[in-house]
Amino acid sequence: MDKTAVVKVGAVASASMCVLFGGLVVAQYFLTKKKRAGKKTKIIEMMPEFEKSTVHIRYPERVEQIICGMIKGGASKLQVITDFDMTLSKFAVNGKCCPTCHNIIDNCSLVTEECRKKLFQLKETYYPIEIDPHLTMEEKYPFMVEWYFKSHSLLVEQRLQREKLPEVVRESDVCLREGYEHFFDRLHQHAVPMFIFSAGLGDVLEEIIRQAGVYHPNVKVISNFMDFDENGVLKGFKGELIHVYNKHDGALRNTDYFKQLKDNSNILLLGDSLGDLTMADGVPNVENVLKIGFLNDKVEELLEKYMGSYDIVLVKDETLEVPNSILQKIL
Ligand code: TMP
Ligand code: MG
Repeated sequence: MDKTAVVKVGAVASASMCVLFGGLVVAQYFLTKKKRAGKKTKIIEMMPEFEKSTVHIRYPERVEQIICGMIKGGASKLQVITDFDMTLSKFAVNGKCCPTCHNIIDNCSLVTEECRKKLFQLKETYYPIEIDPHLTMEEKYPFMVEWYFKSHSLLVEQRLQREKLPEVVRESDVCLREGYEHFFDRLHQHAVPMFIFSAGLGDVLEEIIRQAGVYHPNVKVISNFMDFDENGVLKGFKGELIHVYNKHDGALRNTDYFKQLKDNSNILLLGDSLGDLTMADGVPNVENVLKIGFLNDKVEELLEKYMGSYDIVLVKDETLEVPNSILQKIL
């Protein structure tokens, strides 16, 4: 081989090596990128609130996808459907349980000691059934009806006066979750409809959010409302009973509301009970639903179940930081 031939062969060989090496580098780059993409998801990665140990997510890619869809839709496509007791209100402060709407009445001076005892006995019987991890919702259903029937009958016997409710709420230990002002105010600013769907007591609930200064016009409350006689004395309850496990027909019972919101196809759903998971059932024209569940009690027994049903589970988290961080991205 003459000298020029040797140079040519050498040049071809080194060019091939370059191509091969370059190819390897490019392949490595894409492989690493793919690996990284599979492990972590972008938007959630950028949100420090999701790094808290209280946040549990079974399918991060799914959550990522839903949040992306919601960001794309923005304020005009968003609506919020939320439970009240133990979801917007705190479950406990410094280890001490906070009251539900019902408990505010149970604890107040308007009911007799005897009635209070009976109401507490009812709670001791039925609350463990409400959160029993071994019973299905269908099995719990009749017990919940029984609880509400007995509890509401006792309240009617007490002849509660409507005009006393503001004072009773003011003097109670009820507490909204940290960050509630931001949550309510932001939704109001962006005219995002908020449907509070509660098996609590509507009159008490409204008084709580009124006193907290967040009962804005974008908020609609669906709950058990008291029926007062002409003297303002409690004589019964209006409409059909809402209990913890019959929230699945809420959309059916409020067709006009949801028809008006048919373009608000992205739903942020907040709840604390497994019964709250069905709050958006039957809402027409749904594109994305993000379900956030507060797991307050019986954490070890219920975490698996909650993670299988809620997209994001917040364990013993008394704040609205995670929902607020999501709203910040969407609005
Ligand atoms: P929620 O749907 O807003 O969470 O309200 C329902 C809660 O109220 C549920 O956890 C059961 C609770 N409750 C009481 O605390 N006392 C009662 O007497 C009744 C009937 C319900
Ligand atoms: Mg609740």
